[in-house]
Parts: sequence; C-alpha cells; structure tokens
Amino acid sequence: MASTKISAEEYFSEKNVPAISNLDELIKELRNVFEYDEVNVDYVKALLSSYKSNPEDWKKYSNFETHRYTRNLVDTGNGKYNLIALCWSEGQASSIHSHSDSHCFVKMLDGQLKETRYAWPSESEPENSMQKLGSGVCGKDDVTYINDSQALHCMENPSHSDTTVSLHLYIPPFSSCKTFDERTGHSVSVTMTFWSKYGERTKFTMCGQHMVSVWTLDTNLSTQVGLRTTTWPRGS
Ligand SMILES: [Fe+2]
Repeated sequence: MASTKISAEEYFSEKNVPAISNLDELIKELRNVFEYDEVNVDYVKALLSSYKSNPEDWKKYSNFETHRYTRNLVDTGNGKYNLIALCWSEGQASSIHSHSDSHCFVKMLDGQLKETRYAWPSESEPENSMQKLGSGVCGKDDVTYINDSQALHCMENPSHSDTTVSLHLYIPPFSSCKTFDERTGHSVSVTMTFWSKYGERTKFTMCGQHMVSVWTLDTNLSTQVGLRTTTWPRGS
C-alpha cells in the first residue's frame, strides 16, 4: 500500500509554520517534524519561535538546586530527539562543551542566558588557551542554534537576582559529550543524566555504599570525572 506521507521538501517548503499555543502543541509538531530524517534548521527555529513561553506549561519541569543547574527531560520524540528543560539558579554556568555531532536548539522560557562561543582547540598548538569567538545574551522566547561544525560553547545565567529556564532540543539525542578546559583546551568525556523525567524526580543510582549521581557540564563540581558521590544514607 502506497504511503500518503508527503516528502520532506514539500513538508518544509509548502507548509507554513503553525501557530503553537502551548508546550503540548509544540511537542506534537516536533514529533511530526522529526518523522523525517532531515533536520530543517530554519523550520525548527521558526517552530520554536512560534511558541510563546507560558510558565503554566512548564512549571512541572522547573526545578532548581543551589550548586548546579538541573536537566529535566520533557520528551524524547519516540527516540528521535531529547527535549530538556534546564533550570539555572542565579549565576550558574555550564563548562565549555561539544554536542556529540547533534543539532542543538535552545528556546528561552524565562530569564536570560549568556552564550560564549569558542573555536575547537588547535591540534597543532596543544596547551594553548581556547580562542573565544564571541558572546551574546538571549532572553525570553529567543531561539538559538549551534552544532559542532560551528563552534563549542558555554552558557551561564548572568543574573545574580533572577533564575533562568531554557528548553534544549537535541537531535539526535546523546548522553555524553566533551567538556573543555578554557586555559589548556584539554577535554574530558562526560556522561549526562536527568534531575527529573516527565516531571518526576529521577532516582539516584546506588553504587556500593555510595549514592552516585552523575553531574556534568557544571563549572562548580567535578567536571574532570563527571561524578559526584554522596555517602548513603544522607541526612535529611
Ligand atoms: Fe550546549
């Protein structure tokens, strides 16, 4: 039986970006878009821009911690992508990182993020400090895009009085990436986990007598090994 699915070219060229009135509608349309193997960057950026942030839509993914930003899984698009809400307390930042050859879109939901882009470290000049390409600040409802062929980057909440929530779309999904030392260009591979999934707190992994959580991309904690251990049981 012949498929009635239209081609990716028709889908992205003839269909106007629909009006998106809430986060559920955005997810529904993202799932439609990524039934195609092609990633049309301009279309996805326009789609994310079409949704206007409403805290009622995403408050169940909004979780903050004192010492690190949190990663909260919103949707996996049937395995095609990861849609993740990142919640940044005042002044929190990521380390410089790559994106494992995936496309990375960021839709700002609340507050501000400062993005600083870097060139990949030079293989011919090891031990050099990393070259800064530029930086910019984005605010509510802004959309940005990056992939590894463009640059590396780090992000931070520049405010010391307001929190930030950003929605990150990674296509295809990935669970590890590289973080870089700005002074030397040295990198380490780190594994990422979620603070919550679908609005539910993620359970810690037990490892011997220690409770282990994998914390990554965090400039404040353990980026060299990507692990932090906490003695179990922990006081309440
Ligand atoms: Fe990133």
